[in-house]
Amino acid sequence: MAMSAEGEGRGKLILFGEHAVVYGVPAIVAGLPLGARAQVVLLDEGPSRLCLIDPDSDRPLAVCDESHADQPLAQALSAILAAFGDEVAVDARVYIDIPAGAGLGSSAALAAAIARALAALLDRPSAVQAAVAASEAIFHGDASGIDQAAALSGGLFRFTRGADQPIRPIHAPGVPVSICLAGASAPTAHMVRGVAARRARHRPVFEHIERLIGAVTADAQIALSQGDWPRLGELLDINHGALCALGVSTQDLDHACHIARGCGALGAKLTGSGGGGCVFALTPGTSEAVVEAWRARGWRAFSVVLGG
Ligand code: PMV
Repeated sequence: MAMSAEGEGRGKLILFGEHAVVYGVPAIVAGLPLGARAQVVLLDEGPSRLCLIDPDSDRPLAVCDESHADQPLAQALSAILAAFGDEVAVDARVYIDIPAGAGLGSSAALAAAIARALAALLDRPSAVQAAVAASEAIFHGDASGIDQAAALSGGLFRFTRGADQPIRPIHAPGVPVSICLAGASAPTAHMVRGVAARRARHRPVFEHIERLIGAVTADAQIALSQGDWPRLGELLDINHGALCALGVSTQDLDHACHIARGCGALGAKLTGSGGGGCVFALTPGTSEAVVEAWRARGWRAFSVVLGG
């Protein structure tokens, strides 16, 4: 049996439908050309160790072992290992180029990379889904599974929690977007619990907002497949407004959206659970101006083309 193996996982960008997706509304998500690559070595005995490394500087970003049971990263490692059943001990080095906790799916990419390397080592490909789900439950609480789907499959697709076929690929021309990390983010589980608490107090209103987001997502799928960027941009703005209504935007996220629109972006919205973290803008022909304006404000920003 091999003693070491590698695995990869993708980051993700939710284009439409976050939060509503937790309540069964379809969302649209794309795998990012960023992600995590794990090198996993089997050890004779534990505790298992995990080191996150910045691939640009080769410097450690975080280090833990399974004895740090109070740390989410150590808990996630234990959960991944438990999904493979037997008593396994590993040394995992993970090179990750997605900012942590920014709504770009870093935790699912990390789990997918480690789980795939373990699956190769132990010849257990069927355990990968359960391993990533167990790890995501630690970071996300009641997760819809959207990050996990994107980390494992990549591409551009519609995701529906609990559907017979949760993933439906969307065929579209490459979508030019710019992404901005507008300040520190809040933990996903905290944001999901906050929405659940407000939803419990305003159930009929929240169900209206969820239906609105569902209608936006359905129109967006058509606009995407037709490459109708002006229409898609307006739908992004509407979805951002709905997320404000759910209570998950912040002053910085709103400001970053306004800056992008002011520099010619066709639309902009927060992405992921909110409370800080990332926004993205639709920027055909305007990516440089938008990214420059965000950077001038002191935020990290970059452009990518999704799908295509
Ligand atoms: O991991 P984040 O911050 O991108 O959030 C995931 C999307 C949510 O809809 C907020 C939660 C979920 O599990 O779907």
